[in-house]
Amino acid sequence: MSERPSIRFSNLQAPSEGVLVLLAGEGGSAGASLPPHLKEVVERAAAKAKFKGKSLATLEILAPAGSELDRIVVIGTKSDKPQGDEDWLKLGGTVAAKTKGAPTVTVLAEGPEGSLGGAEAAAVASGILLRSYSFDRYKSKKKNGEAEEEQAEVAQSFTLGVADPAAGETAFALHSAVADGVVLARDLVNEPANVLGPVEFAERIAELSKHGVDVEILEEPKLRELKMLALLGVAQGSPRPPRLVVMRWDGGGDDEAPVAFVGKGVVFDTGGVSIKPAAGMEDMKGDMGGAAAVVGLMRALAGRKAKVNAIGIVGLVENAVDGNAQRPGDIVTAMSGTTIEVLNTDAEGRLVLADALWYCQDRFKPKFMVNLATLTGAIIVALGNNYAGLFSNSDELAERLSASGLATGEKVWRMPLGPEYDKQIEGKFADIKNIGNGRSAGSITAAQFLQRFVNDVPWAHLDVAGTAMGSPANEYNQSWASGFGVRLLDRLVADHYEKR
Ligand code: BES
Ligand code: MN
Ligand code: ZN
Repeated sequence: MSERPSIRFSNLQAPSEGVLVLLAGEGGSAGASLPPHLKEVVERAAAKAKFKGKSLATLEILAPAGSELDRIVVIGTKSDKPQGDEDWLKLGGTVAAKTKGAPTVTVLAEGPEGSLGGAEAAAVASGILLRSYSFDRYKSKKKNGEAEEEQAEVAQSFTLGVADPAAGETAFALHSAVADGVVLARDLVNEPANVLGPVEFAERIAELSKHGVDVEILEEPKLRELKMLALLGVAQGSPRPPRLVVMRWDGGGDDEAPVAFVGKGVVFDTGGVSIKPAAGMEDMKGDMGGAAAVVGLMRALAGRKAKVNAIGIVGLVENAVDGNAQRPGDIVTAMSGTTIEVLNTDAEGRLVLADALWYCQDRFKPKFMVNLATLTGAIIVALGNNYAGLFSNSDELAERLSASGLATGEKVWRMPLGPEYDKQIEGKFADIKNIGNGRSAGSITAAQFLQRFVNDVPWAHLDVAGTAMGSPANEYNQSWASGFGVRLLDRLVADHYEKR
């Protein structure tokens, strides 16, 4: 994809050339390391432009007098609330956006109150990385005919000046691993389904072994032996065979139960015989966004050598339609023994997850399971594209996820579960059916379905249909695929499940 810019940390010293970025409050009041003559230039420009230093507001000064700099970009940091992790990402994203085309960029990462700490500066650097991502692999002619500003690429070389550069480097090593995970998830989701089938997806996951992740790929005969007939029923309408991939990162020592993450990996969802309408169907190449997040998360945990034992499991299938495809009314027996009436072949994600979740708890006895899935259109009706739906049988896990969501900006909103909803999936000819009644509470009945395959283990389901793809662009994401879930779950692990 777009090239990853180089980032380094140095002392707080203004450069003599390239583009200089300053953080400033009201009236262009920047930090102490700005040379006096530039300070004057900035303050004069700020006064003329009535620059108020509002958070993320910018002021550009071209060819500043008395220096060889190309330009100075002043970014406002004045805010009523304390700055959190996501604010530093947004700041970094703004740095990348406003310095396009620059040969080199130097950020003096200090405000009137002094230098940013290592962790904060590293978060800014992470924002630069995430903003610089674009999925341009299939553009044979780069960006012709676009406006001048759009044409320029994100700069390739950034230096962040801070009081303690070593602290910046150390913190950035961790952030950089997480950013790699986000970029991997975005790449997988953006990739079209003709290129990324279940087999190819599994091959991409196998590459994680070079980062220390143990990868086990289960092929069709094995899935049949395990009696994963719910998953196999979905896959049977496609000539491309399914895969179940198990990833393990052992960073937490021998006798620690693992944490587990399970992802829906439908590489393309036509709906099957209950076929989807044509309009917008192309978006269903992203119906593996849950699986992509799990893979990105494992990459992040391994990359930063997290002190945790973590399992990632993804069910990879194509929901296609041919003469052998599953029909409405078919009854399948899941690995758990539960029988399922498939009344709508487009409610396929829950069928895949039924077997993946059961297998996960059965084999690994995890501390908890979190699954991610682009499961229902109904969650987009309920929450739009800014919050993922959260369903859980554990208040503690739900609260931790909500807090991680606020910290990272990957927000989740808890939705209810309950016996009233569970009733809606009682089957007529089998134990349960794969849809509820009519259009009511579609996301909840889907979650109830998943819960039927979860025993006592603390569990949470994240419905990311609205957030994994097509969510609004922001300062640190311009891509259709956001990589949603990687930073959220990395944070959950870091804050609560790692050995000190
Ligand atoms: N993959 C879709 C859900 C989806 C819709 C994801 C839009 C992203 C954007 C899922 O498999 C699906 O088709 N769900 C059905 C369920 C229904 C048949 C009960 C839906 O939401 O319409
Ligand atoms: Mn579907
Ligand atoms: Zn689907």
